[in-house]
Amino acid sequence: MPKDDIRAFLGTFAEGFGFRDRDKLKFAPDDELLQVYRAQYPVKDKCSRYREAMTPNNAFESDRGPTSLARPSHRMLPADPLPRLAGIAVLRRLEVSDLAVFQEYRHDPLIARYQDWYGTKTDAEASAFLAKMNALELLQPGICSQIGIAEPDQLALVGDIGLTLAIDGKSAEIGYALRPEAQGRGMGAAAVREVINLVFEWTDAERVLGIVDPLNVRSIRLLERVGMRMIESRSGIFRDAPCIDHVYAILRRA
Ligand SMILES: CC(C)(COP(=O)(O)OP(=O)(O)OC[C@H]1O[C@@H](n2cnc3c(N)ncnc32)[C@H](O)[C@@H]1OP(=O)(O)O)[C@@H](O)C(=O)NCCC(=O)NCCS
Repeated sequence: MPKDDIRAFLGTFAEGFGFRDRDKLKFAPDDELLQVYRAQYPVKDKCSRYREAMTPNNAFESDRGPTSLARPSHRMLPADPLPRLAGIAVLRRLEVSDLAVFQEYRHDPLIARYQDWYGTKTDAEASAFLAKMNALELLQPGICSQIGIAEPDQLALVGDIGLTLAIDGKSAEIGYALRPEAQGRGMGAAAVREVINLVFEWTDAERVLGIVDPLNVRSIRLLERVGMRMIESRSGIFRDAPCIDHVYAILRRA
């Protein structure tokens, strides 16, 4: 491979992790890049982030009116924000034991119609993915985590929500899917509302984004139901073909 191509690739890679371009040649082949990143940019203490986010009206509008953020009265937050009650649903960690249900809905052509899921095609891949998501620290900049949506009684998995905090920490993006049996009950909207709460409570992000195909009417209804509004229509690529993406957003309330 030509030297310039390698340099260009390393530049993109370094940039993706928030390093300066001139530092791209300082990495050794056996560096654990994430550890280097964390040493350089330590994750802010959850407790201080939480306090920074505390304002008297820190709530967001939904179709059910303003929802107060459920803040614990004690000063320290637990290390993991999950599990978390989301009204008629629960947000919880994905488990390897979710494999059968997870694979069933992700392989349903109607559920997968507007989404591409990488790295979960085979059972072995999906199993490794579930194990990874079970342990992954949420809300690390630039790293997508997948959160399970579950029934509140037995915590049976009904869907999942992908959550990515942008590298600059200013926004977070969500994507979601519900197994068909769980649709039409408001569980998706309840789960998305609570993930929005979680983002505003645990990070300094100013807005949460959802990107949707204009033909995905049910998803658009969900986004609008939780108080998101369309801010942009832009061209994209989906399955190697041009497409239009509608970008929805909800802002942190002052
Ligand atoms: C997008 C998706 C999650 C929406 O599921 P959903 O169940 O329609 O969404 P909600 O949780 O908002 O539920 C709303 C429905 O429940 C009904 N409902 C019943 N009881 C309810 C309650 N107590 N509270 C709220 N809604 C309730 C609502 O009337 C509404 O049905 P309607 O749209 O037919 O009027 C689902 O269609 C899906 O998984 N699609 C495939 C994956 C996908 O495309 N993801 C989005 C990628 S951007």
